[in-house]
Amino acid sequence: MCGIIGYTGTKQAAPVLLGGLKRLEYRGYDSSGIATVKDGKILTAKAKGKIAILDEKISGGTKLGGTVGIGHTRWATHGVPNEANAHPHRSADGRFAVVHNGIIENFFDIKSELTALGYAFASDTDTETVAMLLQHLYRGDGDVLSTICALQKRLCGSYAIGIVCADTPDVLYAVRKDNPLVVGLGNGENFIASDVTAALEHTHDFVLLGDGETARITPDHAEFFDADGKPVKKQTTHIDWDIGSAEKSGYAHFMLKEIFDQPKALTDTLRPRIHGDKIVLDDIDFDSKYLDSLSAVDIVGCGSAYHAGIVGKHFIEKHCKIRVNCSLASEYIYSDPITGGDVLTVIISQSGETADTLAALRLAKSRGSRTIAVVNVVESAIAREADGVLYTHAGPEIAVATTKGYTTQVAALYLIGLKIAERKRTVSDVKYKSLIRELLALSDKVRSQLSDENIAAVKKYADRFSSHKCVFFIGRGTDYAASLEGALKLKEISYIHAEAYAAGELKHGTISLIENGTVTLALVTQSALYPKMENNIKAVKSREGTILAVSSPDNVKIAVHTDGLLTIPECDDDVSPVLTAVVLQLFAYYIALGRGCDIDQPRNLAKSVTVE
Ligand code: F6R
Repeated sequence: MCGIIGYTGTKQAAPVLLGGLKRLEYRGYDSSGIATVKDGKILTAKAKGKIAILDEKISGGTKLGGTVGIGHTRWATHGVPNEANAHPHRSADGRFAVVHNGIIENFFDIKSELTALGYAFASDTDTETVAMLLQHLYRGDGDVLSTICALQKRLCGSYAIGIVCADTPDVLYAVRKDNPLVVGLGNGENFIASDVTAALEHTHDFVLLGDGETARITPDHAEFFDADGKPVKKQTTHIDWDIGSAEKSGYAHFMLKEIFDQPKALTDTLRPRIHGDKIVLDDIDFDSKYLDSLSAVDIVGCGSAYHAGIVGKHFIEKHCKIRVNCSLASEYIYSDPITGGDVLTVIISQSGETADTLAALRLAKSRGSRTIAVVNVVESAIAREADGVLYTHAGPEIAVATTKGYTTQVAALYLIGLKIAERKRTVSDVKYKSLIRELLALSDKVRSQLSDENIAAVKKYADRFSSHKCVFFIGRGTDYAASLEGALKLKEISYIHAEAYAAGELKHGTISLIENGTVTLALVTQSALYPKMENNIKAVKSREGTILAVSSPDNVKIAVHTDGLLTIPECDDDVSPVLTAVVLQLFAYYIALGRGCDIDQPRNLAKSVTVE
């Protein structure tokens, strides 16, 4: 979703801001803009569409002078994507410019009040209201900090706001509530950004702005204040992600690179937590007494994180013999969930900033449940607020469609499940040790899936099916969970209508959609369910449907009934969703490539969904 970058230093700000905006592109946007302060005046440039258009308009930033400025990528919420609605927005007197992520819920009331006072608005956005309100509250004395404190008292909703003021030429301001914002500390230059990747090429030292806090930043100084303007001390966090990991490194797309990152990402999630044949989760406080008292687990996430949760549900229920509910965060928060001290809530989020997921975490906590977050982005809001965090250590994920984020979430859930099972003694020693071996072997198995030969096999079917309008995915048990993820991956990047169905449900209605040539991907990796899946496949074939199966190598009979077969490496049925995911990611990628889609930034989608 929208992205913010801000700079104050000795360099010309606009080129630096453009560089930051390019790093924020992955979050999803439809317009962009920059404001700088030069000679006591605010200069702005905006463009609808890709940042390349803005870049060209201001000749790589050289046309916009000034050494302090703010930039923004906008993902439209209030008002269509056009230049007038693009940020930064200026106050009527031109003294303030603001960029904003989030939603000002009471903007209409404020706008009406200011309009009645004679303020003329030029956009449909809630953000312009912030710029106008700043002008209205400002006493003209250079005390922008007090003005921001007063502003905060008027705003309802969620916001991360970057501000420049013509009266304080080298100062950058930032304020946030329920939306992410970090302050990057450089040498003679400082930054604000919605996430660290935007400023990572300049610094690895960041301060995470807390809810209600304001930052006042000059090239040499960053000061922090609470909502009443009282100074607060903040800790600096060193983020050791290297900038290379946020670059394409020769791959055609971030998505492809991130698919190839998976062997390492899985190692980084699993290895440090497997000591010999024991799972050690130092990062979360799983004391024996707590685990003994545990009667249920709730898993909550959105999109692919929810799909990872369904895999986790199967695994934990099977091996820990306790009830596990997996909920979509957006449903959970309005469902009056029954939870409490004996229920563990596992909150899953790659970005750690998803608004619905954050709200679910807060709700579970408020009802006395212990919360464990499975998160990738270090020190993100969900990571900070949960009672414990299991970082997936997947490294920056830039493509909007998650790949390594998802598989490492699944891996983290296996660790949680095995830890609970070990304490509850619900899994035999032999099975426990064999599952640990399976986890340790995952990385090499995924690496083998990425061989030229295996990729060519997937590509062959992707080419064959890329012009289809509709693809179904079917499976049972964890294969159904994997189908959900496969269908989501395909639809979001290729725009082909893709739907996942529990294979046993076909006959209850969906089979009416099968006709000559309808493509169905059948996931068949659960050995106990081979005969049942075979029946479902035959039912599709009898209606002249086309079947591509993704199966385990021991399923020798499957090829007879299908029109194509992709096999995953041999593995325990319990961990097959990770390997199936890799095949389905590649399938979606090559179909989208064949259709000429914008793979890393699919239309209408944002990487970090910070509004409900
Ligand atoms: C799909 C995808 C999304 C995310 C969802 C949750 O490829 O990436 O469905 O999984 O928006 O995001 P996080 O995990 O950041 O909370």
